[in-house]
Amino acid sequence: MEPSQVAIIGSGLIGRSWAMVFAAGGFKVKLYDIAQQQLTSALENIRTQMKELEKSGVLKGSLSAEQQLALISVCTDLKAAVEGAAFIQECTPENLELKKKIFNQLDLIVGDNVILSSSTSCLLPSKLFTGLKHVKQCIVSHPVNPPYFVPLVEIVPHPETDPSTTERTYALMKKIGQSPVKLNREIEGFVLNRLQYAVISEAWRLVGEGVMSPTDVDLVMSDGLGMRYAFIGPLETMHLNAEGISSYCERYAEGMRLVLNTFGPVPEFSGETVQKVNQALSEKIPVVPKVLDARRKWRDECLTGLAKLKTQMKSD
Ligand code: NAI
Repeated sequence: MEPSQVAIIGSGLIGRSWAMVFAAGGFKVKLYDIAQQQLTSALENIRTQMKELEKSGVLKGSLSAEQQLALISVCTDLKAAVEGAAFIQECTPENLELKKKIFNQLDLIVGDNVILSSSTSCLLPSKLFTGLKHVKQCIVSHPVNPPYFVPLVEIVPHPETDPSTTERTYALMKKIGQSPVKLNREIEGFVLNRLQYAVISEAWRLVGEGVMSPTDVDLVMSDGLGMRYAFIGPLETMHLNAEGISSYCERYAEGMRLVLNTFGPVPEFSGETVQKVNQALSEKIPVVPKVLDARRKWRDECLTGLAKLKTQMKSD
């Protein structure tokens, strides 16, 4: 049986978003934080977001905003927060010692059936969970910001994670409308960040070497590659751009290797190139909280529109 109650540990940006995603899926959510003030502001923020989403007709799930809000409660007592929960999603700051402390606390109070899951962006499961009594029940479920609009979740097991923990987590993510992918083993950066860093480093080198302006490099992604990557990945792109993958490799392997061999070393991400990129981006989007927030809001609106289009394209 799937759990009907989940606990979220940490009510910041990601904790709030998970709470909304689970509530949209009809789950009872207990949101835990060390600071009451943080919980109060999380609830206010979730209420505002849900109301706005409902007004624009893009609230997830079949329940109304009020019904979803009624499913979320807050708590500053860890034991009470996790009581009755079959799935616990940890969303505290990205700090290994802090997270280890929390998982050690959880290890002492949870039963043998609950899943202990971390939102960590880059801490390896072997760093987080080794030595825990309940290590078989531990897993990383790495979301993408903002998880409410970008559904991918990377599921990364510890070497000792029980396969049933991975399967149950995968099924749960599907059930709440996210798009889970499984890593067969842990690796630095997981997969999303490895792909992202490959793109960032080449973008950085191209700007650093003066091949293209920062603004134009961004356009290559947003008006070029990104258009298709919202629907198909790089491997399917290869498949469709020739008569299948084998034909693509026959035709283009040599050319790809030629280009790939001209890639430079890992950038330092410092010095002149930082200034160059900073100048271009600051002209377009000044580093002022109000302006940055407005741009983030616009980005989320774009993602909502894209999510709608993707749903429509799937059902066509
Ligand atoms: P945040 O700083 O917005 O929120 C962290 C929350 O944890 C705060 O509410 C804080 O009061 C609370 N907290 C601190 N110590 C605590 C403790 N001992 N027990 C319970 N709560 C505690 O951080 P954010 O951005 O939500 O990130 C959370 C996790 O999600 C991190 O591991 C991060 O790497 C990961 N993540 C973040 C993404 C992002 O873009 N922000 C994307 C994907 C994953």
